[in-house]
Amino acid sequence: MSDEVRKTFSKDNMVIFPTESFLNNKILCYDINYSSGKDILLINNDIEDVIGNIPKNTINLIISSPPYNIGKPYEKKKKFNEYLEWNKCIINKLIECLSDKGSLCWEIGNYVKDGEVFPLDYYFYEIFKEFNLKLRNRIIWNYGHGYHASRKFSGRYEILLWFTKTDDYIFNLDNVREPQKYPGKIAYKGKKKGKPSGNPKGKNPSDVWSIIQNDWDREIWYIPNVKARHVEKTIHTCQFPIALIERLILALTNKNDIVFDPFVGVGSSMIAAIKNNRNVIGVDREKIYTDIAFKRINDYFKGTLKIRPIEKPIWVPNGNEKVAKVPEEWKNKPLWKNINDIL
Ligand SMILES: C[S@@+](CC[C@H](N)C(=O)[O-])C[C@H]1O[C@@H](n2cnc3c(N)ncnc32)[C@H](O)[C@@H]1O
Repeated sequence: MSDEVRKTFSKDNMVIFPTESFLNNKILCYDINYSSGKDILLINNDIEDVIGNIPKNTINLIISSPPYNIGKPYEKKKKFNEYLEWNKCIINKLIECLSDKGSLCWEIGNYVKDGEVFPLDYYFYEIFKEFNLKLRNRIIWNYGHGYHASRKFSGRYEILLWFTKTDDYIFNLDNVREPQKYPGKIAYKGKKKGKPSGNPKGKNPSDVWSIIQNDWDREIWYIPNVKARHVEKTIHTCQFPIALIERLILALTNKNDIVFDPFVGVGSSMIAAIKNNRNVIGVDREKIYTDIAFKRINDYFKGTLKIRPIEKPIWVPNGNEKVAKVPEEWKNKPLWKNINDIL
């Protein structure tokens, strides 16, 4: 971390420390005293009380998923306009902390009122533009499971907006390339004629993150939503998969950079940063979550934290398992009658 950040947050270069002035007797910081050589700062407080203490122009990546104002256990529902205004104030201060080469990633879904959907990325885009940030990607994060809607199509994606402060930004594409769908494809003209046409380093993972890796095996790979049986699951209802954040950290920062999540929940982005040798600051108002984040970071250092790697394929039934068979009582229903002809 820069000396300026270190002076503000740490007593030595290893970790975290609430300094008395920073603490203001209101902020709980956790003492994570590891020999990782990195600064790790986990703060339990309202972001409004913390943001003013973060030095300007120091953060390389701000990455977060804010509350969506949909009545989750950790939020008090506000009027939609008030909610946006509140976000705007925080975002204004966050951008001041961002370095000139820095990026900001905002992961959002929909705000829903009386069954009507308000796509949050649409509203947040306006806010970020007002502060002169430049949109580089609108990433669709597609997942396979979730709530089954009955009066509209079930929602199966969220949006990740990636902005930069200037045109001079970090983008380490080689860190996040993935295997081509058809690596054996041969070029039939040009300089590569007769040779494999793809890049041996792999391909750009694109802005839709649901990766079809081996479609000849009909195996669909993607980053799963963190739900019931996921190895990373905690009590938090809106947890990031660690792999999702790792891809952004690897692409948008360099080693030893500072990552900052102002709504850190159970610390998924902190773990992604620590795992990849970045310094990190995380803030959450709910102690129940920062306690879990603290434990997860501890478990990571002990080597006992379970993380689902990005490359691990989702389990796909081969058709012989009991769960993949069509129940007897469905076999006369229109959808299922001719299913064997289709498969
Ligand atoms: C969508 S969740 C983020 C979850 C996180 N990405 C994770 O992987 O655990 C939003 C978080 O914002 C926190 N939060 C809500 N209002 C806050 C505020 N004013 N200051 C700080 N944190 C707040 C909530 O406690 C919640 O954990």
